[in-house]
Amino acid sequence: METASIPSPAITADFLPILGSDHIEFYVGNAKQAAHFYQSAFGFQPLAYCGPETGVREKASYAVGQGKIRLVFTTSLDPGSEMALQVSRHGDGVRSLSLWVEDAREAYIQTIARGAVSCFKPQMQKDDRGFIWKSGICLYGDTIHTFIERKNYQGSFLPGYRPWNPRFRAPEAGLEYVDHCVANVGWNQMNPWVGFYEKVMGFHNLISFDDKTITTEYSALMSKVMANGNGRIKFPINEPAQGKKKSQIEEYLEFYGGPGVQHIAMATPDIIRTVSGLRDRGVEFLVPPGYYYETLESRVGRIDEDLRAVRDLGILVDRDEEGYLLQIFTKPVQDRPTLFFEIIQRKGATSFGAGNFKALFEAIEQEQALRGNL
Ligand code: FE2
Repeated sequence: METASIPSPAITADFLPILGSDHIEFYVGNAKQAAHFYQSAFGFQPLAYCGPETGVREKASYAVGQGKIRLVFTTSLDPGSEMALQVSRHGDGVRSLSLWVEDAREAYIQTIARGAVSCFKPQMQKDDRGFIWKSGICLYGDTIHTFIERKNYQGSFLPGYRPWNPRFRAPEAGLEYVDHCVANVGWNQMNPWVGFYEKVMGFHNLISFDDKTITTEYSALMSKVMANGNGRIKFPINEPAQGKKKSQIEEYLEFYGGPGVQHIAMATPDIIRTVSGLRDRGVEFLVPPGYYYETLESRVGRIDEDLRAVRDLGILVDRDEEGYLLQIFTKPVQDRPTLFFEIIQRKGATSFGAGNFKALFEAIEQEQALRGNL
């Protein structure tokens, strides 16, 4: 495993205090249908809407929530807009990893002073429920970080949105919070983006995986996990590594048309119940290779969950010094083999399931081969 030489988080975290993940905004071809999919399949609840009916001419956005997770699906109403071009380039995908901050103007000033590229300057937005400040900096590809300051706002989501109360309500699936969001970047781009998170954001390198750790017979990748001062916001960054065949990261980069968000991990307190429910509603999960469960008990020891249910659902288990975790990965949630989701339950473990990497990547390669992309 690689060694990280990273400044202490206590020193570097001060200039950009992050209160939490605010929301994740997707640019999609059809926001109305995307929002319905995330409600019916993943159990998200309708929160707020903006579009022509609320005085917004150029786009329509639907915000949905579950636990602390908020997702926003936005589509352009102007075929010539930059937003429409991005959807044409990438397909549906994550545009903004939006962070909840105490002071969005200060977050902008501090990150720009440390070398961030501006996406948009601090701007105030208000309605009859108060006002917010927001600002944006560029990330890899067309992805951005938006800083949201909402201490003076009491509305349901953001100014300009109105509460959205459709008749349809899907039952929730038990998803509680975003555990981590992973980026795929191009060859030799992982370390520059690690440097960005260290220098510009004051994050630290929590853990590194080299291409010997994350490898199968055919392909390899490297990954470094970047975390903020309190360790709650985690952004792993992957880059492809040389293997016999095309890696899943290369497949992503080709079909997304560049770097972007690869997967979003959402935490549940009861993965058996959550995954059973999601599966019944049409969410498709990767199936681990047959040998995986033969050695599971000897590898991870005793767990609280019913092993038969774990195996039947295809859930992966890994243990570290602090406990264990259960995790499972969906197939891509759009036609391009790009973004997917992880469902994770942590029972003490703070790591990322390194013991599962081989089985997971073999499962991904099976799917890649079916697509003719291995
Ligand atoms: Fe993950």
